[in-house]
Amino acid sequence: MKDMKTLLLQEDGIPYAAELLRSGEPVGMPTETVYGLGCDATQPSAVRKVFAAKGRPSDNPLIVHIADISEWGSLVREIPPLAMALAEKFWPGPLTIILPRSERIPPETAGGLDSVGVRLPAHPIAQEMIRAAGVPIAAPSGNRSGSPSPTTSAHMLADMDGRIPAIVEGGSCLGGVESTVVVLDDASTVRVLRPGLITVEMLNTVAERVIVDDAVLSQLAPDAPVRSPGTKYRHYAPEAKIILVNGGQEEFLRYVKSQQEEGVYALVFDADLPLCSANGIPALSYGDTDAERAAAFFGKLRELDECGAKCVYVRAPRTDGIGLAVYNRLIRAAGYEVRTV
Ligand code: TXA
Ligand code: MG
Repeated sequence: MKDMKTLLLQEDGIPYAAELLRSGEPVGMPTETVYGLGCDATQPSAVRKVFAAKGRPSDNPLIVHIADISEWGSLVREIPPLAMALAEKFWPGPLTIILPRSERIPPETAGGLDSVGVRLPAHPIAQEMIRAAGVPIAAPSGNRSGSPSPTTSAHMLADMDGRIPAIVEGGSCLGGVESTVVVLDDASTVRVLRPGLITVEMLNTVAERVIVDDAVLSQLAPDAPVRSPGTKYRHYAPEAKIILVNGGQEEFLRYVKSQQEEGVYALVFDADLPLCSANGIPALSYGDTDAERAAAFFGKLRELDECGAKCVYVRAPRTDGIGLAVYNRLIRAAGYEVRTV
């Protein structure tokens, strides 16, 4: 699979992308969250190519993407009323709903689990690709396993060039963090396994109870039960060492200034930049609001590596709203190295 030429297709290349997908090849697909590496979710051999191209552990299940809510019923055993209410409210959009899988989804796609996560993406090119292929599309994020998720075709090409036949260009992903992943604990309870742009507060407008799984904000004990296999792997890690710092602007700056390592950088909010520069701390901003930080975060991790940063202190966002999604990616990128100052 190495050394093939990876084509960057434009919108008029979608029919060719669909042909590749139908013939069991993986293709890069833009979505509103991040770029995914798509394949026919019903073909085990296609799914194995996706795992191989990513270097992904085979027990980590793939999300299945559909273009019309009516396709959902053939992928799962049943759709409970709460699941349907969530889909009706938040699809098309960045919400993945896990339910027991039907026979149509092979064990390879499900990472050996009895369930499947499904979502209907909001990106028009993703929808067009799924419709043109005429099959449900399994797509993990389009990065090599462990690297930051790609939010542009260039990021995806940097990871996948020579490993897959094609990527469809779709511009920069506006969302920037992957979909919110939920499972239903019972008829009125939603459990968030991975936070995203569909926030806990938004889910609460549909579900009576919303529980944030323990794995979202902390490292699970090695023997703890794992609800979502993705949470046990190293994630989003750039070359540079990442350290997450909880604290106000002044405390943060004082702390970073006191650090003596080589190649220290700060990843901060817009308002912190002038103070960083006044204190001689090389810094990048990842935005002013939680939504901006979500959109910019993965690209900034890649940019920090390009700057030659060796050790990056990140000013932590709050953990409500979209901030929870950003914080969750940050603690993983930091390998759970969090300091409070
Ligand atoms: O926004 C997104 O969700 C992107 C785009 C391409 O749609 N996809 C994505 O896929 O982020 P991936 O494979 O990088 O992350 C899927 C996460 C993993 O943590 C996986 O363990 C979890 O969802 N997951 C998927 N299916 C699951 C299942 N049946 N049970 C538990 N967790 C599941
Ligand atoms: Mg991923």
